[in-house]
Amino acid sequence: MIIRNAWYVAAWADDIGKQPVARRICDEPVVLYRDAAGVAAALADYCCHRAAPLSCGRVVDAGLECGYHGMIYGTDGAAVHIPGQIHIPAKARVPSYPVVEQDGMLWIWMGDPAAADASTIFRYPIHNDETHWPHRHTLFPVQGGAMLMVDNLMDLTHLPYVHASTIGGNNARDHVEAIMNVEPTENGLKYTRWMLDHAPPPTYRKGAPHLAERVDRWQEFEFVAPGIVTQFTGAIDAGTGAYDLGKRDGGFSLRIIHALTPETETTCHYFWCGANGYRQDDPNATVELFGELTTAFQQDQVIVQQQQARLLEIGEDRLINIVADGARMHMRRVVERLEARERGEAVRAPSASERTPA
Ligand code: FES
Ligand SMILES: [Fe+2]
Repeated sequence: MIIRNAWYVAAWADDIGKQPVARRICDEPVVLYRDAAGVAAALADYCCHRAAPLSCGRVVDAGLECGYHGMIYGTDGAAVHIPGQIHIPAKARVPSYPVVEQDGMLWIWMGDPAAADASTIFRYPIHNDETHWPHRHTLFPVQGGAMLMVDNLMDLTHLPYVHASTIGGNNARDHVEAIMNVEPTENGLKYTRWMLDHAPPPTYRKGAPHLAERVDRWQEFEFVAPGIVTQFTGAIDAGTGAYDLGKRDGGFSLRIIHALTPETETTCHYFWCGANGYRQDDPNATVELFGELTTAFQQDQVIVQQQQARLLEIGEDRLINIVADGARMHMRRVVERLEARERGEAVRAPSASERTPA
């Protein structure tokens, strides 16, 4: 099921201007735009006159004008102008959705508007720190469900198989034997994965050619239910203090936010942004990193889309969990609790054993 009572990324803030953008979110047609004053808004993407998509209209001084017969709507969804008519009935309106522009992203709440609390939106200050974390972002349309993309980020044993040419490297045993530490949080989990005395993968080698032949490599991930995953990944020369002293500088490091927003039950919007933490003064490094990540995440997109197609045929019942699924299974339990709450079922706090990842 799609969880509606949550803040999702609807768009990169700088992708929304006065030209209306049509985007299906949580299986509802939405139009995103900025009004004449530059205020971002989200309305249901239909006109209450004859259902023309409002995304086919345009922004005028008074609001969003329908492209069919010219009705104009304010950011609250109420009509403010009906051509040839002075009286505007109360019914002349379409749903509007709460939106908040924060940390370079436009966040949307598709559930009960009364429950939308902007203070609970995930904060990502990296996007406001171009000096230390120069970054680039994009949006991939994925023909696969948002949860499959989160699954993918919870089980990194796929790296040597899916990403051998980029962020993976080709020693599968190193990935399976990585030191994995999973820590439940109030609304998700964190995990840290260590690969000690390991050959750096191609992307690391390209970004930081001064790295030694062997590095200590970390992958710190946080999942914030239902659709946000952040990543802090990197490596420094083996045995120089990354693991035991917490040293992170002088090698290769990057930060990524992955925001998975349901489009439908089986498709999603994959917003991601990669930040360069190793050659911040070199704009080319940020561009090159973006290129490497684009290749890597297209590799994820391909496998997840194929997985989704097969799942639609065979269902989940024949699938098994293996030892690599610990973080993924914990993530799914968190999401299942949110789904139960969404259905109006009483949700008890997780027991001690449930808070312990498999
Ligand atoms: S369909 Fe929008 S004004 Fe007629
Ligand atoms: Fe991947």
